[in-house]
Amino acid sequence: MSNPKDMEADRKLQALRRRFPHTRTQIYLNHAATGPLSRPVVQAVRRYLQQRYLGPIDNYEELAPIIDETRRLVATVLGTTPDRIAFAPNTSSALGLLAQGLDWRPGDRIAIPACEFPANVYPFMNLQHRGVQIDWIPHREGTFTVEDVARALTPRTRLVTLSWVQFLSGFRADLAQIVACCHERGVWVSVDAIQGLGALPIDVEATGIDLLAAGTHKWLMGLQGLAVCYVRPELQEVLRPRSEEHTSATSGPNCRRCFVRPAGCTVRWTGIDSATIASNFIRTPGVTRRARPTRRPSWRCMLR
Ligand SMILES: Cc1ncc(COP(=O)(O)O)c(C=O)c1O
Repeated sequence: MSNPKDMEADRKLQALRRRFPHTRTQIYLNHAATGPLSRPVVQAVRRYLQQRYLGPIDNYEELAPIIDETRRLVATVLGTTPDRIAFAPNTSSALGLLAQGLDWRPGDRIAIPACEFPANVYPFMNLQHRGVQIDWIPHREGTFTVEDVARALTPRTRLVTLSWVQFLSGFRADLAQIVACCHERGVWVSVDAIQGLGALPIDVEATGIDLLAAGTHKWLMGLQGLAVCYVRPELQEVLRPRSEEHTSATSGPNCRRCFVRPAGCTVRWTGIDSATIASNFIRTPGVTRRARPTRRPSWRCMLR
């Protein structure tokens, strides 16, 4: 390798690989189960534990800016503003915000692709005892079209909930088209983004989706036990928090307006800290991400 450009690119690549000690002994092919932990993430978690263990016990004020910074970074990655971002313990519970937070009436219907991961199914099936019906959107080997979605809509459909990238087939849904079709009929769209977020670009405001939920332990390369959640202002207006937390109010104890902020009360600091680092990492210039969506379960993304 004598070309200076190639040498520089190689130097950057080696520096990135050094952040992932796994790569010394293993060939890592990410299939979006659990992402690798990088050295900066582990250092951040250690730093937090050391501080709590040996330093000031009540370190809230020192750590609060980390939450703000994480919210800001996640918002940048999603193409929105930090006030639209909430945290939840996992993807299922972020999607549960919608399942528990809308004023469901008997006869309301929800359309879900029949190939969805259970995290995006059970929170909504759990509404059946309240008279809500599920319509399954048919798929062909894990793929479906906007026409399939449109055919599943009825006058009583209030929500379509789907994965951005399917967990088995790797099929990537055309969110903008699906949202356009649903919003025309007054139907909300929520998206489980865990299989794509961090590997593929998304602009939640441009696509118009109403809610996005994604755990941080896959492409975001953070710890398990934390999910990021985006809620569109129009949905937030009608969504009732399933439980009020003391930090849900946007200003002061008498504030009547609650933002849906799951885990807004006592959050798991270590997860948020590592997510900050990971979000920083995915925005580092020089990170090569190769995402190859296919119809077969061979979708993968490589750090090489
Ligand atoms: C599509 C999809 N949604 C959600 C999850 C995880 O859900 P949760 O964060 O609730 O554990 C996974 C995999 O773990 C997944 O592949």
